[in-house]
Amino acid sequence: MDTIELQNEIERLKKSLNVTIVAHFYQKDEVFNVADFSGDSLQLAQVASKDKNPYLIFCGVAFMGESVKVLDPKKRVFMPKVACCSMAEMIDIDFFNKNVKILEDNGITKSDFIPITYINSSAAVKAAVGELGGYVCTSSNAKKIIQKALSKDKKIFFVPDKCLGQNVARDMSLKSAIIGEDSNEDIREAKIICYNGFCSVHQLFSVEDIEFYRKKYPGILVATHPECKPEVCEMSDFVGSTSQLIKYISELPIEQKVVVGTEFNMVNRLREKNTYILSSTKPECPTMNETTLEDLYETLKSIENKSFKNEIIVDKNVIKWAKVALDRMMEIS
Ligand code: 13P
Ligand code: SF4
Repeated sequence: MDTIELQNEIERLKKSLNVTIVAHFYQKDEVFNVADFSGDSLQLAQVASKDKNPYLIFCGVAFMGESVKVLDPKKRVFMPKVACCSMAEMIDIDFFNKNVKILEDNGITKSDFIPITYINSSAAVKAAVGELGGYVCTSSNAKKIIQKALSKDKKIFFVPDKCLGQNVARDMSLKSAIIGEDSNEDIREAKIICYNGFCSVHQLFSVEDIEFYRKKYPGILVATHPECKPEVCEMSDFVGSTSQLIKYISELPIEQKVVVGTEFNMVNRLREKNTYILSSTKPECPTMNETTLEDLYETLKSIENKSFKNEIIVDKNVIKWAKVALDRMMEIS
């Protein structure tokens, strides 16, 4: 089948089978264009968990499909490719516990901190955070969630993205430190203590790239995602989640040049003119790009013939505490 035939078949199947398709902004255009809803991590979790159809297909990375399953365990959630975000893969329960032990060795006990996990983590890590009284956050609500946790007058243990943790800390004029990078003294003094994880795609954007564009096009604006390095975000005119970036850029006058530090597929769809990518290397997320139109079609066919390919299953005990951490975020959002 060619692309048009595949798209038509997907349209027909999703209607006849009562399936909702959601896609993250980083998905390939061919997949993005057939989705019923697109959005950032928070918007998709909200939309998908409230959706009334019995079947949901999530075009994104594994933690996103898992989060919908946790929020609404009765819903049958499928992913055309169960592709894993490399940042989410940087932390598991063992690493989480080892880092908690490092905090304890520094005299920071479980009652001294509130853990917050970026939604880019496994359901098992979310469950560990929920059990310790913590929250999930996304890039669009991280500051709000951290503010809420800080109102309890405790330190924050932020996993897995050190860049998001540091960027929010700088924005709130709070001291942060990274386990494994900073000294024990720094860790003891910090209000936000970060795990040492990062997004390999957003590490591509550099201060030199910003200097290059500002020299080449004086007056150009720089808009970046908070997964970028702190020194990059500090130099940016705007920092926001994918949906916040889209809003900011779409409201600029068309003659205003803007250079954007986030994934290629999304930036490529933004504006025809005066929009640039903040890197000489194409910043494609390899795992987001794994999902194809053929995969989506195959997933729908498997629902039709009841072989149910790539259904997301999460252990009941994990769901219990991961849901607590996600629900705490949803209440604040
Ligand atoms: P958003 O929540 O901003 O969509 O970010 C998700 C993500 O994985 C960015 O790399
Ligand atoms: Fe994960 Fe980075 Fe890809 Fe986002 S861009 S899904 S954080 S690897």
